[in-house]
Amino acid sequence: MKIAVLPGDGIGPEIVAQAVKVLKVLASDGLKLELQEAPIGGAGFDAVGDPLPEATLALAKASDAVLLGAVGGPQYDSLPRDKRPERGLLRIRKEMNLFANLRPALLYPELASASTLRPEVVAGLDIMIVRELTGDVYFGQPRGIETRNGERVGFNTMLYAESEVRRVAHVAFGIAMKRGKKLCSVEKANVLECSELWKEVVIEVAKEYPEVALSHMYVDNAAMQLVRNPKQFDVIVTGNIFGDILSDEASMLTGSIGMLASASLDANNKGLYEPIHGSAPDIAGKNVANPLATILSVAMMMRYTLNQEASAQRIEAAVKKVLAQGLRTADIYTDGTKKVSCSAMGDAVVAAL
Ligand code: IPM
Ligand code: MG
Repeated sequence: MKIAVLPGDGIGPEIVAQAVKVLKVLASDGLKLELQEAPIGGAGFDAVGDPLPEATLALAKASDAVLLGAVGGPQYDSLPRDKRPERGLLRIRKEMNLFANLRPALLYPELASASTLRPEVVAGLDIMIVRELTGDVYFGQPRGIETRNGERVGFNTMLYAESEVRRVAHVAFGIAMKRGKKLCSVEKANVLECSELWKEVVIEVAKEYPEVALSHMYVDNAAMQLVRNPKQFDVIVTGNIFGDILSDEASMLTGSIGMLASASLDANNKGLYEPIHGSAPDIAGKNVANPLATILSVAMMMRYTLNQEASAQRIEAAVKKVLAQGLRTADIYTDGTKKVSCSAMGDAVVAAL
């Protein structure tokens, strides 16, 4: 199994190094894994002037799965838009057709007090957000900034083809079938035609999944319900931009964005795995970042792309164990626990494995 390793920028290299330690343990225990590293984001720009170097894309396409750290940093903010690190990330998602983005928000009981919400509101929380990842206002044409009537206007196009909605809806219903059989489709159909179509198509697809209880929610209400009573949700399916926003919100229910993994899958379950957090330039190079989201992304890779469920569970159990031991990186530290560095957390997970 070939894995492309793309550390990226900021804390990316530090957290990915911990996840690679975990992969090496699995390899030494018999999994046939072949890792190859390549630059992306600002690192790609620094190396060859492109946030998604051709060689990196070729490696990713030739691999079974991709492990990515994070991209971006203030030193790249003034580059032309197509050279910016974020473009590299958006392009690799698009080029690899990774339309289904799975973002689980799972609360580890040990971290209940790290959430800003009351423990009883979040205890036992287990939500899966399925975010469409290659369409919507992120990619719709036309887009741009131009002068009209003597002033500048900025514009983007929110657009979904029904085939795009249908395929991500199938993924979401499939996941709901394996979980609590509840799916909530989130849109803004009271205002946007794009959302109206989204809702219609989801209702059509639902006919193939009679066992799944489908509900619909406007995105503003969904944002509110996520903090009011998050446990009402099982699986949420939504478009690219709404999913971007709601998944950050959902992550905070769990105490720290540093805990949440994600999978971005194509139609054949080939995938790219990354923590949902960013490159955190403010703490980069200090060995204080939380590597657990990246390590848990490896667990998702084992489950969804490499079909190694036992390895997935082994990694998840190891993460639970280090949390039970009271080890915490700074972002999830609370009184009475033991603060450890990024690399020490990685070592602890390796020991627990
Ligand atoms: C995410 C990020 C990206 C996105 C950025 C970095 C382009 O926020 O993965 O959620 O908006 O998709
Ligand atoms: Mg985001």
